[in-house]
Amino acid sequence: FLVSKVPPTNASRAGVKRACENSLKRLATDRIDLYLLHWPGSVPLAETVEAFEALKAAGKIRHWGVSNFDTDEMEELVGLPSGANVQTNQVLYNLSRRGPEFDLAPWSLERGIPLMAYSPVEQGALARNARLDAVAARHKATAAQIALAWVMAQPGVIAIPKASRQEHVRQNAAALDIKLTAQDLAELDRAFPPPTRKRGLEMI
Ligand SMILES: NC(=O)c1ccc[n+]([C@@H]2O[C@H](COP(=O)([O-])OP(=O)(O)OC[C@H]3O[C@@H](n4cnc5c(N)ncnc54)[C@H](OP(=O)(O)O)[C@@H]3O)[C@@H](O)[C@H]2O)c1
Repeated sequence: FLVSKVPPTNASRAGVKRACENSLKRLATDRIDLYLLHWPGSVPLAETVEAFEALKAAGKIRHWGVSNFDTDEMEELVGLPSGANVQTNQVLYNLSRRGPEFDLAPWSLERGIPLMAYSPVEQGALARNARLDAVAARHKATAAQIALAWVMAQPGVIAIPKASRQEHVRQNAAALDIKLTAQDLAELDRAFPPPTRKRGLEMI
């Protein structure tokens, strides 16, 4: 499943088409499965959506979505013609970045728009976080696996860990089988409290 992104500087009608065609050449393929607008920019969203829909009609992408969109930006998007065709919003979300749970995650779940959690192990930092050790020991797992299992346990959330070491790829795939208990989740809530107020969406 091939995913690529277009930066907001290329988000005009002509820019999206050109950027996509260049990506297809670089990737030596004829279709991208999911094409994302990397973050909100100054080109009117309606124009970018039109460009995505034109790429879909031409068979160059199968689906489109966005990244780093907060709730107000998603509201604007789904109100546009064809805006509700958005397939996902890729955002920074993990145990140490729980801000999206305040309103973006429930808003997205209600509308059936999956959140794609990037940096789900906080770029490796959660793999070294001792506050995950007790839960990890109970599951004979690593801290990174618990961090990942937690993200995947959230309703309507997909995780995209990056791993260049084979051992990490194997461990991350195995995290799919970890079923966190109510006790695990309560302990994790104490160590990494959920948000109590709205915070702007974080980006890295
Ligand atoms: N949309 C956006 O604006 C945006 C921004 C940032 C990132 N992303 C995307 O998010 C994805 C991943 O994010 P990320 O690389 O920033 O962070 P990440 O997936 O949270 O962390 C990657 C780091 O964690 C390590 N790691 C992975 N699995 C591990 C394991 N089981 N045990 C121990 N360490 C482990 C990796 O090590 P090794 O590599 O050594 O295996 C790497 O150093 C990428 O696909 C990236 O393109 C999107």
